[in-house]
Amino acid sequence: MKILLVDGTVFGTKTGAILRQVERYIKEIDSTLELEILYFAKLKHQILDGSPLNEDMQMMIEKIEEADGYVFATPIYQASIPGVLKNALDMISPKAMRYKPVSIVASGGTYQHHLVVENQFKPILDYFKCLVTPNYVYTHTSHFDRDDNIVEESIHERLRELAQIFVQYCKLSETLPKQPIDKH
Ligand SMILES: Cc1cc2nc3c(=O)[nH]c(=O)nc-3n(C[C@H](O)[C@H](O)[C@H](O)COP(=O)(O)O)c2cc1C
Repeated sequence: MKILLVDGTVFGTKTGAILRQVERYIKEIDSTLELEILYFAKLKHQILDGSPLNEDMQMMIEKIEEADGYVFATPIYQASIPGVLKNALDMISPKAMRYKPVSIVASGGTYQHHLVVENQFKPILDYFKCLVTPNYVYTHTSHFDRDDNIVEESIHERLRELAQIFVQYCKLSETLPKQPIDKH
């Protein structure tokens, strides 16, 4: 299975650091999964306004639609997910992620915004009919050292558990038909 790890940040480095840690934990549990990180910061993003899409956006859409599962990593911007991440998801066919496993990790500058994942990001992925793992991990700036190493042990424990459940959801997803029966 091809697993795409999407780093939704365009400025900083913490979100990518969590994602690379998740990648290591998933590999430890199942080395057969093909893992690739897609860094949004490396793409030339384009607002979805009806104009022809540039090469980066076409590549991004292809990678997302062809993957068999995802870990989405998002920073919190203005008490929500970044516009660039929502804009990217707006470009994806609503049927492309159906019954595919998804885990979410997030990083914020305050402790107050962890419910952004629960209240804002999960409903979008539910619309796509993704198999979203019930556990997600929210980190705060204080969980990192200056080199972006995660220094809070409870975060490592939660990321290990996330990886474990994600791998099980991958197995479940393999048994499910991806072709939609309903037309909605
Ligand atoms: C434009 C912008 C808006 C932000 N808004 C919030 C916010 O509403 N709540 C919050 O907790 N952190 C907010 N932050 C802080 C980031 O979520 C936090 O620094 C995060 O760790 C950044 O991840 P990164 O290093 O991967 O970019 C904001 C940062 C930026 C750049």
